[in-house]
Amino acid sequence: MLASFGRVALLGVAGSFSWIAPSHGAGDVERGARASRACMACHSFAPGRHMTGPSLASVWNSRAGTATGFGRYSEALKRSEIVWNEKTLDAWLQNPAALVPNNTMLVAGIPDAGTRNDLLAYLQAVSEGRVSAPDRGLPNLKRVDASREVATIRYCGDAYRVVTGDGKSRIWWEFNLRFKTDGSPEGPSAGKPVVIGSGMQGDRAVVVFSRPEEISTFIRKECP
Ligand code: HEC
Repeated sequence: MLASFGRVALLGVAGSFSWIAPSHGAGDVERGARASRACMACHSFAPGRHMTGPSLASVWNSRAGTATGFGRYSEALKRSEIVWNEKTLDAWLQNPAALVPNNTMLVAGIPDAGTRNDLLAYLQAVSEGRVSAPDRGLPNLKRVDASREVATIRYCGDAYRVVTGDGKSRIWWEFNLRFKTDGSPEGPSAGKPVVIGSGMQGDRAVVVFSRPEEISTFIRKECP
């Protein structure tokens, strides 16, 4: 997917929308919604749902770097004193690094003015509550079925044996099982880690805990 290093090319996505770009006037909310998929690897449009980037639910007319509860803004953006409106958002989406040097939204920008217009129309409509944003962020890890609830994790040799709530057990090569934490309201309940990422089908998976302290206490070093 989109790399976290270097500049992400939004050009491909933008290009496919350019042929229907309006030659005048305001952007189209529907087309903007489609174009906004390029943002969704890093942003949610649902209130309070922060990912790599802040939630964009109420970005219109807000001051840059002030979304409540997002603690990872760059100093550059916080100090920019920009207010997000038609003009500033258009400049940001065209070339974020040019508008705010040293910001951490590492995307190349959208060269097509029509696509930017559509995105602006969508961002404004979301902020004004005229369209409800799809929340395609992470799943709610407090509500998973038993096949994803982790009952036990045992570590032996170079492998983890994971037993899930449905009684099934599966062995992972240690290098292919990742441990993550999600302390958000959608994260797992305390002491109830969840396995995701591969549906236990592929050769890799992720176990998500509610807090980092849980990781070492939950995993037992024990060979069958
Ligand atoms: C690769 C991840 C990534 C992608 C893709 C991405 N963004 Fe961002 N965005 C960020 C990050 C990280 C920040 C915070 C930047 C900072 O603090 O310097 C940000 C900040 C923003 C802000 C400022 C928000 C605020 O609260 O001040 C806006 C507006 C924004 N992005 C819009 C978009 C739009 C629209 C798209 C899609 C066209 C998009 N972004 C695509 C990561 C991304």
